[in-house]
Amino acid sequence: MPKMWAGRTDGATNKIADDFNSSISFDSRMYKEDITGSMAHAAMLAKQGIITESECDALIDGLETILSDLEKGKLKIDMNCEDIHMFVEQVLTERIGDVGKKLHTARSRNDQVALDIRMYLRSEIDLIDSKVRSLIGAITDKAEEYKDCIVPGYTHLQRAQPITFGHHLMAYSMMLLRDIDRLKDTKKRMNVSPIGSCALAGTTYDTDRAFEASKLGFDEVCQNSIDGVSDRDFSLELMSDISILMMHLSRFSEEIILWSSWEFKFIELSNEYTTGSSIMPQKKNSDMAELVRGKTGRVFGDMISLFTVLKGLPLAYNKDMQEDKESVFDAVDTVKMCLDVFVGMISTMTVFPNNMLKAAQTGFINATDLADYLVRKGLPFRSAYKISGQVVSYCIQNAKVLETLSIDEYKTFSDVIDNDVYDGVDLKNCVERRTSEGGTSVSSVEKQISYCREKVSK
Ligand code: ARG
Repeated sequence: MPKMWAGRTDGATNKIADDFNSSISFDSRMYKEDITGSMAHAAMLAKQGIITESECDALIDGLETILSDLEKGKLKIDMNCEDIHMFVEQVLTERIGDVGKKLHTARSRNDQVALDIRMYLRSEIDLIDSKVRSLIGAITDKAEEYKDCIVPGYTHLQRAQPITFGHHLMAYSMMLLRDIDRLKDTKKRMNVSPIGSCALAGTTYDTDRAFEASKLGFDEVCQNSIDGVSDRDFSLELMSDISILMMHLSRFSEEIILWSSWEFKFIELSNEYTTGSSIMPQKKNSDMAELVRGKTGRVFGDMISLFTVLKGLPLAYNKDMQEDKESVFDAVDTVKMCLDVFVGMISTMTVFPNNMLKAAQTGFINATDLADYLVRKGLPFRSAYKISGQVVSYCIQNAKVLETLSIDEYKTFSDVIDNDVYDGVDLKNCVERRTSEGGTSVSSVEKQISYCREKVSK
């Protein structure tokens, strides 16, 4: 097949060079964007009198048929073409003749590919956004169900203070709300049209970039043609958003893996989302969570790979930029899979409130509350903190907990301590007293749940 760009050279490239140069194996997924972009381009050319109305009709008809033939499977993408842009133009010209050759007036593959990626990724953002919303829904439902289930809260992975499982889960809902916000923000900057930048310098034809952009649903056009063809910030931004989102899923995965272990046994994942071992019959492994954690590294790699491709590039387009696509496609494919699996994994997991409570009853997670009790009795916090520490140390030596220490034993540490100390260190009370905004009390968690549900519904 002679090259469309044959001109200065005969285009007779070596087969190895052809394969090396080709991007169709990964850019063919943008066929729809490429074709709709071309239809808008033809309409603009006709509106400006650059081509005739009947030429425009022929181009648009031809493009529409190519799209529907591809969708029906009647036309197969020829993987010997250099890229999807060349493929579409080649089929068009084969089908409608010389008029097909007019489509590429006042544009270049440089602005065309930049247009296609922006269009492709903006719809991917919508898909990711809706998957994140489903996940927030699943997490928030569980949080509601376990809003008064007491569990140790950890710092340094040491039992720290009593919280509710609902409160813990809602922390993830809040992270994911920010992820949605970041995606929305990225889409705003992505939704700017580069088409009409042409090769790099703009064009001598009297084009209407705003018309073409608005036909394709863009908010505005990019203001500098050199920037228009060189900019891949939107892909970097999207991959940064996805990396942060994956980091959230990865932290959650790590907890799910810990909680599923015999050491914790706070939850059990459903059979649908676990795997067995080929040798150890007793195993039930959290492979899905582990894979999400693993794939997080892969997505970070995708992001860094594009940063590295771009960092030394002079303006404007360089072929290096063809390397932008696989990384960003991989990042969006991966995060979508991870989100799908996460929704199922969370909504089908079993929670063991009794095991959580048992863990909360050891580890002296109410020691801060004993100090707070002493403060209410008039001691300064530092002294209260010290006494509380001494009580804990005594309990450890005598195999007791704050709830089982006798009042006489308590009194040896401070005579302000009274029978109401048991109310002070009662785990349920410890949780219920934390009514500060964002705190762990049931009423506060309920507020977090409604805040989140309202945000997600918008
Ligand atoms: N396949 C190319 C890419 O993905 C399209 C742009 C080619 N432009 C060029 N001047 N060779 O970047």
